[in-house]
Amino acid sequence: MPVGLEAISVYIPRYYLDTEDLARANGTDPLKYKVGIGVQQFSAPAPHEDSVTMAHEAALALIRNYGVDPDDIGMLIVGSETGVDAAKPIAAYVHGLLGLPSNCRTFDTKHACYSATAALKFARAWCGGASRGRKALVIASDIARYEIGSPGEPTQGAGAVALLVSDQPGLLIFDEFPEAFYTKEVMDFWRPHYRATALVQGELSIESYLTTLESTFLAYCGNSGLKWDDFDCMLFHVPFPKMASKAYKRLCEMEAGDGAGRSVDELLRQFDVRTRPYLTANSRTGNLYSGSLYLSLADLLETEGVRAIGRRVGLFSYGSGCCGEYFSGVVGPEAEACRGKIGLERALADRVALSHHDYLRFRKAAEEMACNDSFYQNLSCRKGHCPSCSAFLGIEDNRRLYCVPNQTETCLRLLQTPRTGRPYIVAAR
Ligand code: CAA
Repeated sequence: MPVGLEAISVYIPRYYLDTEDLARANGTDPLKYKVGIGVQQFSAPAPHEDSVTMAHEAALALIRNYGVDPDDIGMLIVGSETGVDAAKPIAAYVHGLLGLPSNCRTFDTKHACYSATAALKFARAWCGGASRGRKALVIASDIARYEIGSPGEPTQGAGAVALLVSDQPGLLIFDEFPEAFYTKEVMDFWRPHYRATALVQGELSIESYLTTLESTFLAYCGNSGLKWDDFDCMLFHVPFPKMASKAYKRLCEMEAGDGAGRSVDELLRQFDVRTRPYLTANSRTGNLYSGSLYLSLADLLETEGVRAIGRRVGLFSYGSGCCGEYFSGVVGPEAEACRGKIGLERALADRVALSHHDYLRFRKAAEEMACNDSFYQNLSCRKGHCPSCSAFLGIEDNRRLYCVPNQTETCLRLLQTPRTGRPYIVAAR
């Protein structure tokens, strides 16, 4: 039975920082960020956004735009490396905010940026067997934050991608070839529980990514019998767009070295057709961690529509630490119909640029919101500012509080409790 993606929807935060402003503040040549790394802008989540609210927004858009009956969702998995609690999964919060049925299995998966792919694989197996026609909702949701002034800072980003997996895969039908994965314990990128920002050994992380790619691509082609020319598009995990060109180049070197008769330069030219066009969104949002590969896929489906139907897409997922996997799928007949439903183009068009100063204020406010009883400390400044999307309100008695638009009345009543605090919304909707 064919299994794959029936729907895909994207949530991108409303605010962004241009990397030219970051470069100026960091005393760096903007061309290093814009050309050397390939990031034009990155999403700067507002303090009322976290992995829960972004996952909720992406899933809500998917349910509404594709007319999905929530009762049909029998599994909800969130892939993330920026969870909000060591025990309670993001999926439990999202299940509650969406009001999904109780006969639904919910959990999070974690292995750095591989998280959502692990979730997708589990969902795929379930939809191909025990689901009895029900669907699995897989959401990748992350906020990538590095130390201010560190080499990783220009690669930051945030956002969520929701994927509906089912046995009616109108958007992408997964190829049923033997799997190809790779694991090696490595300290290339990590974030201890006591830190809000990630640590990284940059060069090692790039080498580990490329080794994983080599190994999984070789295994995938060997196991499936697929050859270089069978892939119409090649998508990668995108920590920053330049990484995808490094990845593509590594594959070209392998292919050219295989004695197939084509030079690296000749193969490299196909990058402009197979990969580059689908890095635009990544270059404007920065790293979505678990969602970055699926953002590229959303970009492809939204950009190409009907032209994508029947094309085989190779997908490489990499999670530091590390685990990676190569897999593929063929774009299905609903690709044209889904174009207006993905929401990527609209989200990018509606954004507001932050100044570097406001970006720093957002970061500071987000740190304060992550402390116990931040709900009370920030109450008065949120008065009259109930957001039009789901919002993290702060922490009360060690519990995270959220509101969603259809609970606005409750939210406003809560916000009228008279307490004072410093304003955190610096750019109002
Ligand atoms: N004009 C144009 N290009 C310039 C330039 C200028 N003025 N100055 C430098 N460059 C180029 C460099 O030549 C280099 O290009 P190449 O890679 O093609 O050689 C590029 O800009 C980057 O320069 P550096 O290597 O000097 O950059 P850096 O060391 O300061 O930072 C980084 C690079 C280590 C990758 C850093 O961005 C980082 O730490 N990122 C986070 C880790 C990461 O994303 N790793 C990727 C693999 S791990 C993974 O995929 C998981 C994940 O999501 C994190």
